[in-house]
Amino acid sequence: MSGSEAFAEIIDGDVYKYYADGEWKKSASGKFVPIINPTTRNTQFKVQACSQEEVNKIIETAKLAQKSWAKTPLWKRAELLHKAAAILKQHKAPIAECLVKEIAKPAKDAVTEVVRSGDLVSYCAEEGVRILGEGKFLVSDSFPGNERTKYCLTSKIPLGVVLAIPPFNYPVNLAVSKIAPALIAGNSIVLKPPTQGAVAALHMVHCFHLAGFPKGLVSCVTGKGSDIGDFLTMHPGVNCISFTGGDTGIAISRKAGMIPLQMELGGKDACIILEDADLDLAAVSIIKGGFSYSGQRCTAVKVVLVMASVADTLVEKVNSKVAKLTVGPPEDDCDITPVVTESSANFIEGLVMDAKQKGATFCQEYKREGNLIWPLLLDNVRPDMRIAWEEPFGPVLPLIRINSVDEGIHHCNASNFGLQGCVFTKDINKAILISDAMETGTVQINSAPARGPDHFPFQGLKDSGIGSQGITNSINMMTKTKSTVINLPSPSYTMG
Ligand code: G3H
Repeated sequence: MSGSEAFAEIIDGDVYKYYADGEWKKSASGKFVPIINPTTRNTQFKVQACSQEEVNKIIETAKLAQKSWAKTPLWKRAELLHKAAAILKQHKAPIAECLVKEIAKPAKDAVTEVVRSGDLVSYCAEEGVRILGEGKFLVSDSFPGNERTKYCLTSKIPLGVVLAIPPFNYPVNLAVSKIAPALIAGNSIVLKPPTQGAVAALHMVHCFHLAGFPKGLVSCVTGKGSDIGDFLTMHPGVNCISFTGGDTGIAISRKAGMIPLQMELGGKDACIILEDADLDLAAVSIIKGGFSYSGQRCTAVKVVLVMASVADTLVEKVNSKVAKLTVGPPEDDCDITPVVTESSANFIEGLVMDAKQKGATFCQEYKREGNLIWPLLLDNVRPDMRIAWEEPFGPVLPLIRINSVDEGIHHCNASNFGLQGCVFTKDINKAILISDAMETGTVQINSAPARGPDHFPFQGLKDSGIGSQGITNSINMMTKTKSTVINLPSPSYTMG
């Protein structure tokens, strides 16, 4: 199906293979996991249901491969990453096609995801060469009681085997955002893609294979979470976990051993709109922030908190834009496409019905066909409604009318999430005060929340995550500091 001969070896019959020890393999389990197309709700692809024995083998090889990779010069690691980035971009069409079929990502956005991923890999190679090429030199006499008898040299060393678990909504981009920093820093990588998105991820991994990375350094294991999920995340051979997804991340962090964790677990990003805001700009940002990829982004605007005095005008502006959103299949590049699974659609519907029962104002008629849910703005939402707090991960956006900025900040901070937020005002001084008061990892002033550009730090507070991402932070997170101390027989001070 890939439309490219380059990917012929990654499939056997109609089941995609997994990648281990530099080869594409069939699982000895003889079982497969079906991938349901969100639009047709039929099986689109099948991937191998790998076993725990196969996971053990993969981690064993990853350990060995990492030892030699750590001895590979930094510039050579960067060179291979640049090569993989170029191959990835060259094959953007077949990979994007998988994203369209597996996760119903609109065709244009699917291509953008692959191109952005290639750029991320290249940037990571360049950043790694710079930051890993530097260390620190410290002298002992700055600490009280010491003469200048000790020189301390610090450098960054790899952690070992990094387990990468990306989510369905960016199975390529959020995979490479973990793979590239891990590799440039001298680690090996074991990728467990989400079930939906696995085939796009396997195609992406093949680009790394074509680039010529050493055998076993990059592996990709597919299968049921219930069979290999805990086994992978609790595996003693794993030295670091980078996970993006939902609540599962909380369970992983409780079970994982004493290893560094990087977690990004969703958000309930609040959009606070002041009386002096540019309401046209706010409306455009709400549409982009709330409805792009049908609201299935952790950084989506998930609640609008608008000053009551400007609420009517804002709602009118947003509604006129909602009316222009196209709804339909991802192949037609529609703005609103089917949500990823039927259970997702059912969950979203549950939130909508709860809001209906409790008296929210429906700005549009609620409409659903299969997994396709029409965009909906819910006005006059109150804190007793589930949708005021829970993330729909769908094209349904609650709006709460507030009477003071403090009320908006209070609502934002009462959430158990703290990923991003945004504030719209023409008064930069007020914006800074509000940003400082919001308990979120990032606050965007006069724009919708977003992770990118991908070199910006990206982090969530509270249940939104552990650690910070973004290219530089991820490279640093996937290393440890190593010190070598030179002890001199007598104090030595530099002169002149
Ligand atoms: O879904 C979570 C992603 O990290 C959001 O990324 O802001 O680029 O859509 P994005």
